[in-house]
Amino acid sequence: MENIDNYIAKSSKDYNNLYKESIKNPESFWEKIASTFSWKKKWNNVLSYDFNKPEFKWFEGGKLNITENCLDRHLIERADQTAILFEPNNPEEESKKISYKELHQKVCEFSNVLKNNKVKKGDRVCIYMPMVPELTVAVLACARVGAVHSVVFAGFSATALAARINDSQCKMLITADGSFRGNKTIALKEIADKALLDCKTIDTTIVLKRTGQKILMNPNEKWWHDEILKVDDSCPATEMDSEDMLFILYTSGSTGKPKGMVHSCGGYMIYTAYTFLNVFQYKPNDVYWCTADIGWITGHSYIVYGPLLCGATSVMFEGVPSYPNYDRFWNICEKHKITHFYTAPTAIRALAKHPLSFVQNSNLSSLKVLGSVGEPINEEAWNWYNVNIGKKKCPIVDTWWQTETGGIMLSSLAGITDQKPTFATKPMIGIQPVLLDSSGNEINEKNKDGILAIKFPWPSIARTIYGDHNRYKNVYFSAYPGYYFPGDGALIDNENNYRITGRVDDVVIVSGHNLGTAPIEDAINQHPNVVESAVIGYPHEIKGNALRAFVILMKPEDNIQIKDEIKALVSKTIGPIAKPDIIQIVPGLPKTRSGKIMRRILRKIASDEIDNIGDVSTLLNPEVVDQIINDSNI
Ligand code: WTA
Repeated sequence: MENIDNYIAKSSKDYNNLYKESIKNPESFWEKIASTFSWKKKWNNVLSYDFNKPEFKWFEGGKLNITENCLDRHLIERADQTAILFEPNNPEEESKKISYKELHQKVCEFSNVLKNNKVKKGDRVCIYMPMVPELTVAVLACARVGAVHSVVFAGFSATALAARINDSQCKMLITADGSFRGNKTIALKEIADKALLDCKTIDTTIVLKRTGQKILMNPNEKWWHDEILKVDDSCPATEMDSEDMLFILYTSGSTGKPKGMVHSCGGYMIYTAYTFLNVFQYKPNDVYWCTADIGWITGHSYIVYGPLLCGATSVMFEGVPSYPNYDRFWNICEKHKITHFYTAPTAIRALAKHPLSFVQNSNLSSLKVLGSVGEPINEEAWNWYNVNIGKKKCPIVDTWWQTETGGIMLSSLAGITDQKPTFATKPMIGIQPVLLDSSGNEINEKNKDGILAIKFPWPSIARTIYGDHNRYKNVYFSAYPGYYFPGDGALIDNENNYRITGRVDDVVIVSGHNLGTAPIEDAINQHPNVVESAVIGYPHEIKGNALRAFVILMKPEDNIQIKDEIKALVSKTIGPIAKPDIIQIVPGLPKTRSGKIMRRILRKIASDEIDNIGDVSTLLNPEVVDQIINDSNI
């Protein structure tokens, strides 16, 4: 087998050459990368695709199991090397090192638990768990037996969890009694119990004991630790086709229902591994830490799959950056001699607000590479990160990508290609981005805002939205036929560096969480006294964006109580992350004559750009704009 290292860029010249090759002959290029993995049977065809259907197939006919690539194949060279380094929420609790051999054993055991509980290839399994090693074990065990995992972020509410379980008809739920988050304990099982009242498809629930809090166990609910005793640790990996489903991960859209993005086995495997090595330039013995939660795509691709495929040591952190104090991240960097630190701009901005002494008390000399993901990183945050964390000697990779893209699409390669603050810079090897104007023409003008699109398939593109291929087509392939449309705006500078300028649709990124405004409005509108609402994002110093809701009430009342009720409703329906920061009770909402809410105007009001609102005379109800502005001093 060829070594993937032969195709990793080691200089900017390498990057240029590899990039050119990957664009000129994508199929032979990706075939070479795929050949560095372990397959049970070679593929018949590297790529077939059709942007109109849309359909993308990579390495069809190729048979594999991704967990053999994450685990089994490392047992010869690095059985005793740490695969997962677990740092618990409470620093007094001991951290845990799980070697590749141990992780392999645990995954095989839990795969047998799944099989014992009648989980078969193709069945969907929902995972609703804290950031503990068993979460990774559960994910990989599903992959090993060919079940499709659907991880739901443990901050989501019972209603959101139920909607996700029902949408993909999950057969099993894997959860925990509770989870630790800072000085709080969250009653995960209790939330799951509530969700399950509305779910008909779950046959069995497996519960991990984490907090030891008292919970209710129903007849078809089993403890993880009891189930493990009934199995051995040998479990051959199920043979999967490259195009078989690996997982579903829900992401917000601009209509109410979340989108279950479907990723398949082969393409996702090679793309996450290849980008992990190129972007982070991970070397043997490095200790890599991505602070994301596995409930998001960043955790799937760059805590679990990418790093483990490459035999890396990947840190999992259960807690929060502020507990027990604002120096926790930096203490962990010192404690585990972290070499690679990958986080979100919102975390950087929040930590930058606190005295520098929190950083200065930790020895950060092990750090080699810093990363950023989830939203545009503003220059101030970039500089703070560069100076105080990287001590100006660590390259910063600003990685732009999405749940839908599976892996990093635009980024510099650490220490290899040039970085530029606030720019994601260059396309990954194999990625062909373009900028479009609003009529869909490709534009080459520099420093001009355009719509970002991708004009050729890459191996880890999401294959569909679970159960709704039409929506997949409409959202990503219809606005600009022949392209994948991610929903972001961008510009390029004179050196062809890409800068992401923000969303061009109704998705708002709050503290790095991708939130659709429509589902939040749906939640608010459930309140018996609410007639209609509009939610928009506005710039926020720490969160990047915060949410403001404009709400029309049936019986006008403007008091704290109704605002609290609305916030509680959003929290219950979606989760605390979606709670609006500001709720403004309004007499009406600015609307076009066809009845569409003019969010553009609300955004201007919320961003304090009232001098720049533009023409409102074509509105159905122009007078409402002044009323909203007058009342907006809240
Ligand atoms: C935004 C997260 C600017 C973008 C991996 C994208 C970014 C959405 C960056 C996807 C970045 C992510 N610079 N914006 N480096 N990274 N985004 O699906 O709007 O949670 O479309 O995936 O986050 O969010 P998602």
